[in-house]
Amino acid sequence: MFPAPTRAAITTGALLAALSCSKKSSDEAGAMASIKIGLIAPFSGAFADSGRQIEGGIKAYLKLHGDTVAGKKIEILVRDTTGPVPDVAKRLAQELVVHDKVAFLVGFGLTPEALAVAPVATEGKVPMIIMNAATSIIPTKSPYIVRVSLTVAQEAAPMGEWAAKNGIHKAATLVADYGPGIDAEAAFTRSFTAGGGAIVEAARVPLKNPEFSSFVQRIKDARPEAVFVFVPAGEQSIAVMKSLHERGLADAGIKIIATGDVVPEHVLQTIGDSALGVITTSHYSLAHDSPENAAFIKAYEDANGKDGGPPNFMSVGGYDGMAAIYEVVGKLGGTMDPDRAMAVLSHFAITSPRGPISIDPATRDIVQTIYVRRVERVNGELRNVEFAQFAAVKDPGK
Ligand code: PHB
Repeated sequence: MFPAPTRAAITTGALLAALSCSKKSSDEAGAMASIKIGLIAPFSGAFADSGRQIEGGIKAYLKLHGDTVAGKKIEILVRDTTGPVPDVAKRLAQELVVHDKVAFLVGFGLTPEALAVAPVATEGKVPMIIMNAATSIIPTKSPYIVRVSLTVAQEAAPMGEWAAKNGIHKAATLVADYGPGIDAEAAFTRSFTAGGGAIVEAARVPLKNPEFSSFVQRIKDARPEAVFVFVPAGEQSIAVMKSLHERGLADAGIKIIATGDVVPEHVLQTIGDSALGVITTSHYSLAHDSPENAAFIKAYEDANGKDGGPPNFMSVGGYDGMAAIYEVVGKLGGTMDPDRAMAVLSHFAITSPRGPISIDPATRDIVQTIYVRRVERVNGELRNVEFAQFAAVKDPGK
């Protein structure tokens, strides 16, 4: 993908030196013919679908709005972290900033990779748009970060409140043992216990090569009325749902409640009927009924083909992230100034395919509606059907 010399690790000092020596090139960047965007995410390995979903959403935006804005051609430079590999993500970001002179760093399917790249955004003064990674602290790690996706705490806190108000008194938690899982556990536990519920078991499963069955058995043995689950969307959604089914949780009368990551649309048909009745909280549902979502779904299909499968919440992150970039480029008249770009990004607000979204200028994090959904069969397909909502939810984790 790269010539050998650019693959060498670039130290932070070397990055600063390269940036200060390239004043001329950054001036050129201010008035460049095209706007380069570095897309960093896993495109191979266990989390490959996060990269594909984000890129699919970006392509959908370009399909609908064209690849030129304010007279500048938009160029997407795609880089595969093979993740989760934070060191690779950081090296790729350094190369994109120093050699390719990208105006934006975007993507970031996984928290550890977003955290590794944050110092590169700060040192290079390059706006960094988080299109998925969902641990609360991420935007606090650089003044150049803005998040257009979600925080898992933003999903998990409403789930705890909803569960406590809807007849669940005793719950267990089952989460991936890293940033977003720990945030999910904390946010659910806080709101569920504040509503009068009790946590009877809390299990954290390793992120890499998780073996769910012994953890699921532990939860079954604790006899909760419900288990609250978070795993990163994709292969792990399929694996955890399989394990919950095989261990007979539903037959034991234990309800599955979760963040949307556990039943994302791109793998929902693969999970199959064991997902029926699962209740989740999420910011995006394929079944969301709005003209913006209908236009997005059509553009996604046009841009990625039917074989690309349906879009999920990560695709919407990619799509809305591009809307944010087009707003910046348009408002700055095609020039690039990172601080002016951040001023625009910090006040970004649109009606997204998911519903109304805005950026909280105090935190550079997203404010959005969180929907309560139930998996149902609609016209022969499994869908997350929205039936209640929490409006204008801020990240409760900061
Ligand atoms: C993350 O690593 O922040 C992450 C990954 C997948 C998800 C949610 C969060 O579904």
